[in-house]
Amino acid sequence: MAKNNKVAIYPGSFDPLTNGHLDIINRAASIFEELIIAVAVNGEKETLLTKDERLEIIIKATSGIGNIKVEFFNGLLVDYASRNDVFTIVRGLRTLSDFEYEFRMAIMNRNLDNSIETIFLMTDEKYGHISSSFVKEIYNLDGDVSSFIPDAVLSYLNKIKNEKNNK
Ligand code: PNS
Repeated sequence: MAKNNKVAIYPGSFDPLTNGHLDIINRAASIFEELIIAVAVNGEKETLLTKDERLEIIIKATSGIGNIKVEFFNGLLVDYASRNDVFTIVRGLRTLSDFEYEFRMAIMNRNLDNSIETIFLMTDEKYGHISSSFVKEIYNLDGDVSSFIPDAVLSYLNKIKNEKNNK
């Protein structure tokens, strides 16, 4: 069956969603008729937010964009793409240092399924320094992460921190 080239998948851990992710989401959503944000739930990674929290936050933060669907995915990304008849995977690039990892992942995915293409979108340079891991580290050390993440993420993180402190 011919794959759907009007829909793209933007996969990631999104732990948590950052302004850089949101920038890529906006760019990809303006190119494709539908963008599926696929939240990876593979077991081995320890995450700050549960899979349900990550999904809920993304739904909130992208509520103003019409053509978005947010889903979990488990297992191989190419299998998930294939099950959905989607052949475009979108990944964001911030700096040159992202390139090597992304290049290897795209080529590996191509080796796993030659019908699936990965395309790269550049984040606005103002988000080039932002990563989920920095956000997590700064947040865990009580730093101010408000300029790195969407408001919906910030209110969620503040809420869970308050709940922890009140225990
Ligand atoms: O936001 P991240 O952590 O950079 O996203 C990485 C992700 C989840 C897209 C990648 O690890 C992935 O696709 N995982 C699913 C398992 C898989 O397909 N692995 C083979 C990749 S070559």
